[in-house]
Amino acid sequence: MSAEPGPSTPSKKRSKWDQDDDNMGQPQIHPQKRRHKSKPSRTTPQNDDTGPTPTREPAPIPAPPNPRTRSYYVPERAFHPAIQSSRSVYCYERLNQIEEGSYGVVFRARDKESGDIVALKKLKLEEEKNGFPITALREVHALMSCRHENVVRIREVVVGDTLTQVFVVMDFIEHDLKTLLTTMPAPFKISEIKTLMLQLLSAVDHCHQNWILHRDLKTSNLLMNNRGTIKVADFGLARRFGDPVGLGGLTQLVVTLWYRAPEILMGATKYSTAVDLWSVGCIFAELLLKEPLFQAKNEMELLSMIFRLLGPPTNNSWPGYASLPLAKSIALPSPQPNQFRNKFPHLSMNGLDLLMSLLTYDPEQRISAEEALEHPYFKEPPLPKHPDLFASFPSAAMGEKRRKPDSPSAPTRAANYKLLIEFD
Ligand SMILES: Nc1ncnc2c1ncn2[C@@H]1O[C@H](COP(=O)(O)OP(=O)(O)O)[C@@H](O)[C@H]1O
Ligand SMILES: [Mg+2]
Repeated sequence: MSAEPGPSTPSKKRSKWDQDDDNMGQPQIHPQKRRHKSKPSRTTPQNDDTGPTPTREPAPIPAPPNPRTRSYYVPERAFHPAIQSSRSVYCYERLNQIEEGSYGVVFRARDKESGDIVALKKLKLEEEKNGFPITALREVHALMSCRHENVVRIREVVVGDTLTQVFVVMDFIEHDLKTLLTTMPAPFKISEIKTLMLQLLSAVDHCHQNWILHRDLKTSNLLMNNRGTIKVADFGLARRFGDPVGLGGLTQLVVTLWYRAPEILMGATKYSTAVDLWSVGCIFAELLLKEPLFQAKNEMELLSMIFRLLGPPTNNSWPGYASLPLAKSIALPSPQPNQFRNKFPHLSMNGLDLLMSLLTYDPEQRISAEEALEHPYFKEPPLPKHPDLFASFPSAAMGEKRRKPDSPSAPTRAANYKLLIEFD
């Protein structure tokens, strides 16, 4: 750790705002003296000074900008009504750290102006050598283009003391489903699971309608408020589909292992919306079982768990299997029937049908979010429960810092933001 940087050398270290010592609301952006009087009345100074002045005083040291509106290190923009510079993170009072994930830190904070409670996710830019990482841009772009009742709402992007400190500001949501499933006293009822599934499917459908693949759906990326509403979060691996893809195809470094679709496991570099629907199937199973469906340690173990539950793939169940890159190197077990009924003995016929339609080998045959929303499972009793009737739970995120429950993390993102044109 190097010494405190001067104002001209933006630090790549943590900002004062998110350090654990308490100087919240004390920007201390740089050691120069701050002018207290200059209010934000720097709109149009042109008319004050007509004509050239023959003798000029040496230019005064510019006053630091009001930290409430702009970071010192972000150059002022030429006037453009549609483009505004990001506000500073000091517009928010840090309350507590919610989570230190593998890729970023998430804080709970209060908007000093409106008093709103929000969540700030600090994007990891420290190791980035080639400018602003594409994954961070994608995360912000995806959140902005997928606005929906069941997608976490992005409010703005703010900057810290230096250009390497960028935070996404979102609505604060009390729970993530992973933590909730491990702490709630009784499992969700079928009527509640149906509501959660409908909300999840409607968010996924909306993302897909807007050409966004999430690529990391799992319970820890599903937030839930105390009014029974799910919000899909963490678009850190999301990307647009339908755009031309580089020669290498799409990266396989997506989707946390336990939720990863078999086509990705088999090395497919062309995949699409169906990868998200496989993850939705795993989440449905997890809600029913109250624990993750495929808790595998590595890809091979995951494949053999999938083969066991679904029965090994056949020409019929997965016509494209043989042409997948890894098909030749994997020895399939001898044919056997699927084990869905044994694994989910209490699920109705319709429920089982929906689960099997999601956990289908062939991505072409796998159900889409739009079709799943119309599945008869949601129309048979018990009917989906109205979100207002959900119980509320104490929020771990509002308390002290906590660690993630034990679950594997998303594949490393460092690897896939090296080059814009490479993979992905
Ligand atoms: N808007 C939010 N409100 C409350 N908690 C949040 C919010 N966003 C994220 N979190 C918490 O932080 C965790 C990590 O956030 P996430 O966006 O998934 O980052 P990562 O990329 O590190 O996985 C989530 O699992 C959740 O517990
Ligand atoms: Mg996450």
